[in-house]
Amino acid sequence: MIKNRKKRSIRILGIETSCDETSVAILNASNDAVRLSFHETATQIPIHQRYGGVVPEVAARTHVAEIVSLLERARAFEKPYRFDAIAVTKGPGLATALRVGIDAARTLAFVTGVPIVGVNHLEGHLASSWLVAENRTGWKFPILALLVSGGHTELVLMKDFCRYKVLGRTRDDAAGEAFDKTAKLMGLGYPGGPIISQLAVSGNPKAFDLPRPMLHDVSSDFSFSGFKSAVRRTWEELPEKKKKDAQVIADLCASIQEAIVDVLVQKTIVAVKKHSPKAVCVVGGVSANVALQERLKSELKRQTPNSKFLAAAKGFHTDNAAMIAAAGYWVLKHKKPSNWKTLDAEPQLDI
Ligand code: KG4
Ligand code: ZN
Repeated sequence: MIKNRKKRSIRILGIETSCDETSVAILNASNDAVRLSFHETATQIPIHQRYGGVVPEVAARTHVAEIVSLLERARAFEKPYRFDAIAVTKGPGLATALRVGIDAARTLAFVTGVPIVGVNHLEGHLASSWLVAENRTGWKFPILALLVSGGHTELVLMKDFCRYKVLGRTRDDAAGEAFDKTAKLMGLGYPGGPIISQLAVSGNPKAFDLPRPMLHDVSSDFSFSGFKSAVRRTWEELPEKKKKDAQVIADLCASIQEAIVDVLVQKTIVAVKKHSPKAVCVVGGVSANVALQERLKSELKRQTPNSKFLAAAKGFHTDNAAMIAAAGYWVLKHKKPSNWKTLDAEPQLDI
């Protein structure tokens, strides 16, 4: 635990390499102020687009190529170049990709002697909401987080910093995967979420009748695997001519988005009614979806007005090192750092 925590502002170097974004940040944080003095992300999306999804070996090699130049840019940008701690994603993610960031961070920790924190990537997504200044002013626990990314869909009750209870999670595919895989089967490209949400703008969300999986299940769990199969059947039953019709594609995209948003929002509202959190946030790559943000905000206002909606973390939805540095700050304040000698990737880590 960091001493003198009332007064001191600490500078944390954040490193993220769990999947297809290499990212480095320097976060200056104290009890009442948070400032990012450096934050750059090198996305690998154009590289993986060629393969229709993330290729782990290619991701790891690209992280190796990017991480040193990002760290050099941070050093050139930051004068004086010093930090009090290093926060690096330890998992979940692709093992070889995670190790690139971890090895860079361990080397820096060894050379500089500063503490290192292995950060849970999912806790990083939770902390992304705290990076938004106006959210910090209304930050009162318990907070319910809808965490929706490419690999995870979870409802997490944040009882305090670093104290979480998972209320429900997906039993198979994540919401982001549902977007990615349905876009892929329609031949729309990768990643599917931003493409589907863009095409959905000119589509009719009621054009196709798609299932709302787990909506009436008593648990807070999700499931999107059957949904993906339903979209596949719908697509395969379409005559070839319609598969090339821009309006039909827009209608199917709007219907897919509507179904996913319906499930995510309604299950979140049920959990809010049950657990009465003081605030609700939505984090992870899928939280970039404007339809999801707007619906969640309006349904919370309508059905559970006592729970404040924390704005989605614009600029911090998808993977980034700022959120890793922020979660590292939480861990330093409320738990303890890792050992640089033994810190290793934990690809299957959960909350
Ligand atoms: O959090 P993230 O960057 O990586 C993981 O930790 O998995 O999330 C990536 C996911 C992808 O599945 C992508 O399709 C989805 O976030 N995504 C979106 C949008 N932007 C990104 N999904 C729906 N609508 C979007 N606008
Ligand atoms: Zn992520």
